[in-house]
Amino acid sequence: MYSSALRFAKEPGRVLGRAYPGALTLYNGGMDGPQPPAVTLDGLLRAADNALRALFAPAQASRTPPQLPDGAPLGESDRRLVAGLMRVNHAGEIAAQALYQGQALMARTEETRQFLLRAAAEEGDHLAWCEQRLRELGDRTSLLNPFWYAGAFAIGAAAAALSDRLSLGFVQETERQVEGHLSEHLARLPAQDARTRRILEVMQIEETGHARAAQAAGAAELPPPLRALMGLTSKLMTRSAYYV
Ligand SMILES: [Fe+2]
Ligand SMILES: [Fe+2]
Repeated sequence: MYSSALRFAKEPGRVLGRAYPGALTLYNGGMDGPQPPAVTLDGLLRAADNALRALFAPAQASRTPPQLPDGAPLGESDRRLVAGLMRVNHAGEIAAQALYQGQALMARTEETRQFLLRAAAEEGDHLAWCEQRLRELGDRTSLLNPFWYAGAFAIGAAAAALSDRLSLGFVQETERQVEGHLSEHLARLPAQDARTRRILEVMQIEETGHARAAQAAGAAELPPPLRALMGLTSKLMTRSAYYV
């Protein structure tokens, strides 16, 4: 019995001496072995620090979108429309921070963790750009942000606890959906609001980059029901953050 157990430990895909093709593929499919995620005190502190900063401190951008034009005056109905859209985008960036931080905490390899933290840094700029634009428009961020943060963090951590490939699959799918939302928003923006348009265009280019990078890093294609569930969740978020 001990020798069987030993064989299991040494040969992924074999359980008690029997071959199970595909066994352990849930655990990273040969990407980095079946070891559990190494949650460190550093990781926990980083996650807590990021949550507090994303939710309660004014966001600081490390860059401005290139060729950002000045804001044109907007009538009240246009101002409210743009503020609603930017509140949705800001909530999306809050969720992106949480998702990436949850995933980084539970990542199984340092390589994946660094990939996630690099993307999270770019998302941090998106968060700051949305927050700044809302301020310029004299409006506020979503009151439901702590709720989105908690939910997205839990989903990110759970996906990453299963495997890096699944975790990267979440990144790819999330970014694809965000890209779609941004296209919709770009189509709805008032023609004269070139400033918001530029912010969203730069964000969209970078979200596409995140999706491609996740795919190149070995993202698993998520099953259609899971993709549909993610779509439903993001619809719930975009509908409510527009108003609340
Ligand atoms: Fe983003
Ligand atoms: Fe992104």
